[in-house]
Order: sequence, then C-alpha cells, then structure tokens
Amino acid sequence: MRLTKVKTVLSLSLLTAALIVANCAQNSADKPLTKEEMIKRGSYLVNSGSCNDCHSPKKYGPKGPEPDQSILLSGHRANLPVAAIPAGLPDPNGWVVMGNADFTAWAGPWGVSFAANLTPDPNTGIGKWTEADFVNAMRTGKHMGTGREILPPMPWQMIGQMTDEDLKSMFAYFMSLPAVPNLVPGPIPPQAAPPATAE
Ligand code: HEC
Repeated sequence: MRLTKVKTVLSLSLLTAALIVANCAQNSADKPLTKEEMIKRGSYLVNSGSCNDCHSPKKYGPKGPEPDQSILLSGHRANLPVAAIPAGLPDPNGWVVMGNADFTAWAGPWGVSFAANLTPDPNTGIGKWTEADFVNAMRTGKHMGTGREILPPMPWQMIGQMTDEDLKSMFAYFMSLPAVPNLVPGPIPPQAAPPATAE
C-alpha cells in the first residue's frame, strides 16, 4: 500500500519534470519572428482574411469584382462620387445596409463609412501609425486605439481576437506595401447622408 503511494508520487513528479522540459523546449522553438517572417505571415493573414474585400478598389472581370492589383488596399477612391441614398432607405424592415460597386463605401443606420487606406502613405494612409496604434485600434474599436468609434462594417470585433503576433505581422505587411496616396473621405453622419434624389 505504502509502496504504491510512493510509486504514484514518484511517477507524478517525473511527469511534471517531463512537462517542464517539454515546455522549455517549446519556448526556445517559439523565437520571435524576424521582420521578413512577419511580413510573410502578415501577407498570408491579410490576403486570406478578407481585408481586400473592403479595402481594395475593384476591377470588374467576367466573374464580377476583383481587387485592383495596382492600387491594393488603398481604400475608397477619393475621386469616386458618393451616390445619393434612395428615398426610404435604410428601411429597418427592408434593406438596411448598402454598398458601392467597389465595396469601399457603406451606407446604413450609422451614415456612410469609407474603407481606410491601409498603405504606408504618410499623409493619407497609415504610414505615420505605430504598431501599437494598429493593435489598439483592432482591440478597442476606436480610431488609432483612442479616437472616435470605428464604424460598421469594419469587423474589428473579429480581427481584434487575433494574437499580438498576428496583428503585428499584418501591420508589418501593410508597411511593406507600395504607398498609394489616396485621401479617403471621412464618414458622413446619418442626418447628413446624401439626400435622396427628388423625382
Ligand atoms: C466589410 C468591410 C471591411 C472588411 C472586411 C475590413 N474592413 Fe477595415 N474598415 C472598413 C471600413 C468601412 C472602415 C472605415 C470605418 C470608419 O471610418 O470608422 C475600415 C477601417 C479600418 C482601419 C482604420 C481604423 C481606424 O483606427 O481608423 C483599419 C486599420 C482597418 N480597417 C483594417 C482592416 C484589416 C486589417 C482588415 C482585414 C483583416 C479589414 N480592415 C477588413 C471596412 C472593412
């Protein structure tokens, strides 16, 4: 009886020791990513994670909208006119959310929002942002982590669930893109949304 107890204690301690060793081995394998590795991971996350769907202007091919590779992730094109919202919309019992052909402008109960320029242009993109600005914006849903509320349909609630390493890798990828100067308009509040065209 006593011997069994001793054996159990012994094997438990051995198991703990083995777990500690395994854990240490794993930590030493989890070296921080190099800059190049971060950019590669960020590219994978951004391009599989639907950022282009809203942040890249589109070209229309035989199958419909495709991200315009020449101005990738540069946000809502500054020179695109904003169409009037048809009378009676948004209708809480009907169509509530509307988008333009580029998927870069979105109208809804929040007014009209325009997808941001995520290229490193210092004046119109995120070139002056720090890595922390980006991580905090995604975590808090506030502009650059401290400003106004980030509007729908920007899915920050989901993107903000990613690990620090993944968010930092996405930021590194954005910073590695060619800078595209494109001043995205600020959001239009609901009461000032473009008036419906009078017939
Ligand atoms: C469904 C459309 C949509 C998708 C998908 C989307 N965004 Fe956005 N994003 C927007 C819109 C619209 C805005 C502007 C919101 C505003 O003006 O408040 C925005 C704003 C942003 C901003 C600026 C936030 C700030 O602090 O002002 C960042 C950064 C951003 N998006 C990153 C991303 C990343 C990274 C992805 C992909 C993982 C992504 N977005 C996917 C629509 C989208």
